[in-house]
Amino acid sequence: VNGADRVVNVLEMRELARRRLPRPVFDIIEGGADDEISLRDNRRAFERIQFRPRPLADVASRDLSIDLFGLPLASPVCLAPTGAARLVHPRAELEVARAADAAGALYVQATGTSFPLDEVAAAGGDALWFQLYTPARSADTAELDAVIAGVWAAGYRALALTIDTAVTGNRERDRRNRIAVPYRIRPRHVADALVHPRWTSEFLRGNIGSGIGRTGYMANALKIRALESRLSASIHPVTWDDLRRVRALWPGPLLVKGIMRPDECPRLIGEGVDGIIVSNHGGRQLDGVPATVEVLPSVVEAVAGQVPVLLDGGIRRGADVVKAVALGARAVFIGRPYLYGLAAAGGAGVQRVLRLLAEEIDITMALLGCASLADVTPDLIRTPGASPVELARGAHAVSAPPVAASARGGMTK
Ligand SMILES: Cc1cc2nc3c(=O)[nH]c(=O)nc-3n(C[C@H](O)[C@H](O)[C@H](O)COP(=O)(O)O)c2cc1C
Repeated sequence: VNGADRVVNVLEMRELARRRLPRPVFDIIEGGADDEISLRDNRRAFERIQFRPRPLADVASRDLSIDLFGLPLASPVCLAPTGAARLVHPRAELEVARAADAAGALYVQATGTSFPLDEVAAAGGDALWFQLYTPARSADTAELDAVIAGVWAAGYRALALTIDTAVTGNRERDRRNRIAVPYRIRPRHVADALVHPRWTSEFLRGNIGSGIGRTGYMANALKIRALESRLSASIHPVTWDDLRRVRALWPGPLLVKGIMRPDECPRLIGEGVDGIIVSNHGGRQLDGVPATVEVLPSVVEAVAGQVPVLLDGGIRRGADVVKAVALGARAVFIGRPYLYGLAAAGGAGVQRVLRLLAEEIDITMALLGCASLADVTPDLIRTPGASPVELARGAHAVSAPPVAASARGGMTK
């Protein structure tokens, strides 16, 4: 029996992954930038948010499904792009794509991939997006055009342009472990090999821990040879000009990943962006930015329903998902949680993580008095700092637009 079958939450899956992986590999996944303040804040912010259940509702059955750009999804939990799945499993992206498809979940394939994009697409289903790091010479429109044509031809139907990686964040765990992007694991990183026999035997056979980001969006099978590059070459500043070029070339929905302030949103929408992803890259890039869920209400207010707002960072419980949805997110992404599952038990572990979160969402919705996600409204969230007197008067009910009041009150300062 694989232990992954028996874990009852994401935290326990994390523990399994921690035991399975050499410490430097676990650190690559787990770590954040500098003092990891934003990494911790992502979690703390969710922990501080409190519910106001709506009693006496008919919640005999609950519907967790959503629709995203016409795509039916089983739940609002999507899989974020992570460029290092091959560090934890030999079938890496193939396994994640297949698990997502089996669970009815959306998977965003990262630019940095260890398998060709069309192979990942073949392993997955319809709910497959692509995360773009523009090529280093994106001013060369022919190059960008070829990349985008290749991604589209491989079957990816929406693009998430990541904009928070002008350089790689200062991840001190990796520096201490002498690991640089693109990740290359060497024997010296596996000093404690005997403690992780399964991982180590795959590593020694060359099936794991190498080849990360080698293929990138330049899938071999697509034969865009001239564009071959490594993930490291893809980490560079993205400008408004780049965004405009991508928008002009990409025929499908275009989302921008890494938004942390509301005032950029009108301009982004004006440039033709179809969705906003509030993200601080899981605390891996700029340390000292707020938790994403604290920024969310102000972004939702600025976007004013024109395009969907999505969020990632620190989601570890179904209740976190419900909190984000209540504060205006259409859907959320998880990064580390599915990598824990992948490390612990491959695709089955990824599916287990998705199932656990879905069960928690279901229970949370029932106890809140919500039969569907449309019922998950801002009034279910208690305004932080409301006094007992206000609470007794019912003044803690957040009025529309969602927690704009709390945003002004300093949550997002
Ligand atoms: C190991 C790892 C690799 C990542 N690689 C990428 C990447 O290549 N591109 C990207 O846009 N985001 C990347 N991210 C960020 C995730 O897409 C996502 O924003 C973040 O993991 C969400 O936070 P969470 O891990 O707390 O769920 C990566 C995150 C992790 C943990």
